[in-house]
Amino acid sequence: MHDELAGKSESASPLMSTYGGYTTTIVSGDGCVLVDDHGRRYLDFLGGISVVSLGHANNAIASALAEQAQTLVHVSNFFANPKALKLAEEIDLLLGGGGKVFFSNSGAEANEAAIKLARRYGARERFEIVSAVNGFHGRTLGALAATGQPAKQDPFRPLPEGFLHVPFNDLDAMREALDRPTVVAVLLEPIQAEAGIIDPLPGYLEAVAEMARDRSVLFIIDEVQTGLCRTGRWFGFEHFGLSPDIVTMAKALGNGVPIGATWAKSSVAQAFQPGDHGTTFGGGALASAAALAVLGEMKRLDLAERTASMGEYLRSALRLLPGVRALSGRGLLVGVELSEPRAQEVAKRALEAGLIVNALSADRLRLAPPLIVSTEEIDAAVTILRSVLT
Ligand SMILES: Cc1ncc(COP(=O)(O)O)c(C=O)c1O
Repeated sequence: MHDELAGKSESASPLMSTYGGYTTTIVSGDGCVLVDDHGRRYLDFLGGISVVSLGHANNAIASALAEQAQTLVHVSNFFANPKALKLAEEIDLLLGGGGKVFFSNSGAEANEAAIKLARRYGARERFEIVSAVNGFHGRTLGALAATGQPAKQDPFRPLPEGFLHVPFNDLDAMREALDRPTVVAVLLEPIQAEAGIIDPLPGYLEAVAEMARDRSVLFIIDEVQTGLCRTGRWFGFEHFGLSPDIVTMAKALGNGVPIGATWAKSSVAQAFQPGDHGTTFGGGALASAAALAVLGEMKRLDLAERTASMGEYLRSALRLLPGVRALSGRGLLVGVELSEPRAQEVAKRALEAGLIVNALSADRLRLAPPLIVSTEEIDAAVTILRSVLT
């Protein structure tokens, strides 16, 4: 029965059928290029889904990992390690200082920590979290409860209570939700990534921030996909002049080495007491060393600035392609809206032609190449897309 459910090609796989069938097996990478088990090369314009911002097999990160692996990989959370302390300081500086950091291992866990911190802050009198319809915050039960997508939630009900969803970009609905005295926090992505790279309307996030501030509701920004230079700023919320109370990040922080982080203003962070939250691997020396190398490289390369200009270069070329109706997102997080619902077919044919992109819906493609991408690689990717779209 399981084989029937999983489908024929899946039945032979030792992996659970959570990701659909695999058609390609990747064995190595270098910069923006991936190589499969037949030696075929692909231009990776998905960057491991906004993860590998410094490119595959990055030397600085490999060296930091090798050195750390020979020094210290893990101690229990009964002890500090210098790499995690330094990394927390660096993240705090990027966010303006005056905050504290909790380390975990993924984006969902970074959001779980944010949700638990907000609830602790609300002291059981205020506990509800407001998030947006079609938003995506992860697959663990708490993060899934915040994820405004019934199709992903329904098979797993009952979900934890205390989560409300309002349509993205609808200020009246947000105001009504935030007026509830039991609401402790609002949790939003600055650009809805998984939903199709949906931009906030001008003034929306700023108005939500003001409403939250007026009601002493915490503003949590999920920067798991948009954070760390991806949109042409260190964090996506910077485009909107926000000053969030809690910021979550993961994906690009380790360039593929699993690490998540939850930053909060000190006045909020102090709500967590010893024993309130924890995870065995969070803030481990190895992942922290990788993340320190990532932040160091991002600074050295002035990557936010570079991403903004490369994003413009890519967008100017994409705008000229046949069948492209509109572009969304910022920097190198690019939504390509097609004039026909053929995103799946375009992504499949692009892969056959040696270019990795993905379809987020029937008519939306996502491009999120490593941020070190060159103009030559952008030209090559656009040439493939043109031939597929024509
Ligand atoms: C905005 C956002 N939040 C959270 C997550 C979940 O992260 P993870 O898959 O590392 O748990 C994702 C993953 O795509 C995401 O895009």
